[in-house]
Amino acid sequence: MTVEHHVRDLALAEAGRHQIRLAEHEMPGLMALREEYGASQPLAGARIAGSLHMTVQTAVLIETLVALGAQVRWASCNIFSTQDEAAAAVVVGPDGTVDDPKGVPVFAWKGETLPEYWACTQRILVWPNGETPNMILDDGGDATLLVHKGKEFEATGVVPSTSEDDSEEYAVILDLLRASIAEDPQRWTRVADGIVGVTEETTTGVHRLYEFFAAGTLLFPAINVNDSVTKSKFDNKYGTRHSLIDGINRATDTLIGGKVAVVAGYGDVGKGCAESLRGQGARVIVTEIDPICALQAAMDGYQVATLEDVVEIADIFVTATGCFDVITAEHMQSMKHQAIVGNIGHFDNEIDMAGLGRVAGVEKVEIKPQVHEWRLPAQGDRPARSIIVLSEGRLLNLGNATGHPSLRDVELVREPDHRADRACSRRPTSTRWACTCCRSTSTRRSPGCTSTRSACTSPSLEAAGRVPRRRR
Ligand code: NAI
Repeated sequence: MTVEHHVRDLALAEAGRHQIRLAEHEMPGLMALREEYGASQPLAGARIAGSLHMTVQTAVLIETLVALGAQVRWASCNIFSTQDEAAAAVVVGPDGTVDDPKGVPVFAWKGETLPEYWACTQRILVWPNGETPNMILDDGGDATLLVHKGKEFEATGVVPSTSEDDSEEYAVILDLLRASIAEDPQRWTRVADGIVGVTEETTTGVHRLYEFFAAGTLLFPAINVNDSVTKSKFDNKYGTRHSLIDGINRATDTLIGGKVAVVAGYGDVGKGCAESLRGQGARVIVTEIDPICALQAAMDGYQVATLEDVVEIADIFVTATGCFDVITAEHMQSMKHQAIVGNIGHFDNEIDMAGLGRVAGVEKVEIKPQVHEWRLPAQGDRPARSIIVLSEGRLLNLGNATGHPSLRDVELVREPDHRADRACSRRPTSTRWACTCCRSTSTRRSPGCTSTRSACTSPSLEAAGRVPRRRR
């Protein structure tokens, strides 16, 4: 039986499989889950509709869910964020071939149009043989939103637009729902009724869920993954610290050192962004509306200003707020020639791209995919100029680069009471290895350490006084 899919090209699967193999090594947590729970199949019966950036790391997650017994269908949660080789490899699967795929249904490719994007989201929710998913794994809340809007449309014949709805996207969703309901008038009610719960990955998606909840319209329970500290204090901060400049570098090849960079928003993501730009030698200015976050930025040594005060002097602008219209068309018309403008927040409404498109005489030139020069005509005493917009205002770390890499075990400096000369035995605790001497735990055993030896001679424990420390 063939695997349903819509990806760029299955021939990319081999390249994707190599990258997945390397990422697996960097993702010991998921690999340990496979080892520990693979046999007991705790996810048997789970039918998961996944809407999360279809990257190499997501591929490892998908194949872990399958290894634990789940059935899965997947789409990306952004039109630019798919790594086509990863999508192909997931469809083909570890045991399949391009001619005989044995993997997971994936509907995602880099550079989808909006109608294609929403059609892909629909395909993860509409299962074959009349089945429905019973869980949504969401990032940004689009899959959850479609179920809610679909059910509302079926019940009332209308879907009121909300303040955050971009008119073009809203029209696309309405068209899709009309066609979908014409085909099956109870589709979305059935899907909604079948969902046991949703997990939500990102800040903006969590905000959406709170809005549904406050309005009393949330249709099923939701797990807020974002606000667990191991997510927001790591992925949001250190992930973006890595991937922001990766995106800017791949897109522009501009030296960041010595430039003036503005980061809008000093939450978890803004903190990572500001640090990464400063690490490259940029002079970073932060704009914030929350006084505590603004104070944190000042205490961290950044200049804090309003965008209006610095819009004419900065070379790089990054929005990281989860809020809309942070950079307006008017701001962009005041920027320096060839200023770089990008967004790393979840949705494309932080930068007013529609307003930019409406500026009289503006011209858009594609430098390369996801990098556009917007030529602005002279205005009064302001000479003609260009600005460079990344990923059309969508999250640039996934549009121009490949998002966050995985986080492997982090080796910390040894604890003060560690005595390397003390007899030290390592014993396996299910898939973890615990050292009774230094109290470190690890998902894999250190080289040289065997469970049968009572004295631990692991070189990693003895080398230069550095040992892995227990996670906190
Ligand atoms: P957060 O809520 O911790 O921080 C946002 C900050 O922006 C807040 O301090 C808020 O006061 C500030 N802010 C809001 N409106 C503003 C405005 N007009 N001007 C200046 N500052 C303003 O949120 P977090 O976790 O930092 O996430 C930010 C965005 O990034 C969200 O959309 C989130 O979904 C997204 N995100 C993106 C990731 C990526 O890989 N691209 C990864 C994780 C989150």
